[in-house]
Amino acid sequence: MILFKKAIPLSQWLEAARKREQRIGFVPTMGALHDGHLALLHACREQSDIVVCSIFVNPTQFNNPRDYELYPNTIEKDIALLIQAGCDVLFLPSKEEMYPDHIVAKHYDLGEIETVLEGQYRPGHFQGVCQAVDRLLQIVVPHQVYFGQKDYQQCMVVKKLLALTHREIILLHIIPTQREKSGLAMSSRNLRLTPEQREKAVAIFKTLTFLKTHIAQTPIAELKEQGLDLLQRSGFKVDYVAIADAETLGPVAEVRNQKLVGLIAATLGDVRLIDNLLLN
Ligand code: PAJ
Repeated sequence: MILFKKAIPLSQWLEAARKREQRIGFVPTMGALHDGHLALLHACREQSDIVVCSIFVNPTQFNNPRDYELYPNTIEKDIALLIQAGCDVLFLPSKEEMYPDHIVAKHYDLGEIETVLEGQYRPGHFQGVCQAVDRLLQIVVPHQVYFGQKDYQQCMVVKKLLALTHREIILLHIIPTQREKSGLAMSSRNLRLTPEQREKAVAIFKTLTFLKTHIAQTPIAELKEQGLDLLQRSGFKVDYVAIADAETLGPVAEVRNQKLVGLIAATLGDVRLIDNLLLN
């Protein structure tokens, strides 16, 4: 695996690979890698000639400075995992390399998708995600990119970003959420949970499963109330229990024949967790 810390040499190296008609797959991450990230890397390895991973804890997408400061850093272990996963290139930029002074921050016109759910509770978050992903795509110029369904709304935002920046040619692969045996979605933030909190955190997946089991029989408003109650009884401070249209993330009042997704954001101690599940 080759490690690049600078954008220009990486771009040049990848440009040469593109000229040899090698297919470049890209997995952007913020590190503290776990089996969720590795599922993306494995899919990318199978489908690409060159596998590129980036690790950059992107300050512009954290609306809570404490969350940014506490974001886990396990770089030595990450490098070992990436080598094991057959990654060819790791891009590990500094803040200055990602956001040089001459690049002016853009505003991305994401529409509705930016104002609901995560957008509502984390103002500016998706602008920050777009800023990082746009810059990374500009440097890597991949044929295909890999994102996790774990961050359902982020996948929709990235799709929109690809359209806004005329990069529809890039194939967007969405990889199913990887879970612990308990059902808890793997997340770098799980490292900050105590063993007791980790047990309680399973309530998120249990609630999503509850929504899925009852979606056909129970009115949506009632179902969301019951979900909220389940989470609160496990000690969560809940931002939302949502049942949304899986294509638009718009709210749904009544089940017809739309594809539905259940989404939850809730905090245990000072760790905010998100998860989602397709309901039908
Ligand atoms: P990060 O949270 O490190 O996640 C990197 C990628 O791994 C994302 O696409 C995320 O959805 C995926 N992922 C995380 N946990 C997963 C799980 N349990 N199962 C499947 N996939 C999972 O998402 C980001 O970083 C950043 O916002 C980034 C896109 C890198 C921009 O800064």
